Amino acid sequence: MNPLLDIQELSVQSGTKTLVSNVSFSVAPGERVGLIGESGSGKSLTALAAIGLLSDELKASGSVLLDGKQVVGARDRDLVPLRGTAAAVIFQEPLTALDPLMKIGNQVGEAVRRRAKRDNRSVDTKAITADVLDLLSQVALPNPQRIANSWPHEISGGQRQRAAIAMALACKPKMLIADEPTTALDVTTQAEILKLLHQLVRERNMALLFISHDLPVVASTVDRVIVLQQGQIVEQGPVATVFSQPSHPYTQSLVAAARAFDNALEIRP
Ligand SMILES: Nc1ncnc2c1ncn2[C@@H]1O[C@H](COP(=O)(O)OP(=O)(O)O)[C@@H](O)[C@H]1O
Ligand SMILES: [Mg+2]
Repeated sequence: MNPLLDIQELSVQSGTKTLVSNVSFSVAPGERVGLIGESGSGKSLTALAAIGLLSDELKASGSVLLDGKQVVGARDRDLVPLRGTAAAVIFQEPLTALDPLMKIGNQVGEAVRRRAKRDNRSVDTKAITADVLDLLSQVALPNPQRIANSWPHEISGGQRQRAAIAMALACKPKMLIADEPTTALDVTTQAEILKLLHQLVRERNMALLFISHDLPVVASTVDRVIVLQQGQIVEQGPVATVFSQPSHPYTQSLVAAARAFDNALEIRP
């Protein structure tokens, strides 16, 4: 089966500075892959390069095939049909995805309408409203009707992230790219959002590229992990192997730090 995302020798430069260097990996349809590494290691740039969303001052080289289409060097208008459909992104800060001046229901409704247009389906307002309420309940938002009628600032951070996930789902993407989707949330809400993502990707057999600086968070959600350090891949493999026998000193330090944290909290016996 062809990979859904196939990255070969991706580099990202800012002037003469190399921020991501020679990164190669792929994600098969339905596969769940974690991208981990400390802050500044190039995780977000790799994700943005994957869907052609790098800012103009950055230059990508190498090859990124997303659903068979070359992203590196592509014109923005050629990428628009891929975004949301081949891959949808959930960011750390849900307000990045949400328009502050539009009620939640209308924003999710816009995504439903766009997807229907792409599929050449005609949808009336009633059908869109029904879809929006359905999506809001699929992301386990309480009282979808009330949430649909709310402005982004009127709901909590966790609810905003759920709404952003509903928008992503409305596009029916083959892959979800989640860039530190729980980092901005409190610990209890983090756990709930993780559980939701876990459930949604499995139910829909979506591929997942899950980005985090937090090893245990990734470990529970993905099959395979890729470890980035200073813009380079230092290790990759099945999650259980990387966790139990990390081979690179950097990964060993990440695992040791996670263990020390768990022990301090006495989560593990
Ligand atoms: N637009 C930019 N111009 C210059 N440097 C950037 C830009 N965006 C990110 N960087 C730098 O690239 C490196 C990787 O960034 P990023 O991918 O956001 O890291 P991560 O997501 O792993 O925390 C960091 O050192 C960051 O400061
Ligand atoms: Mg980042």
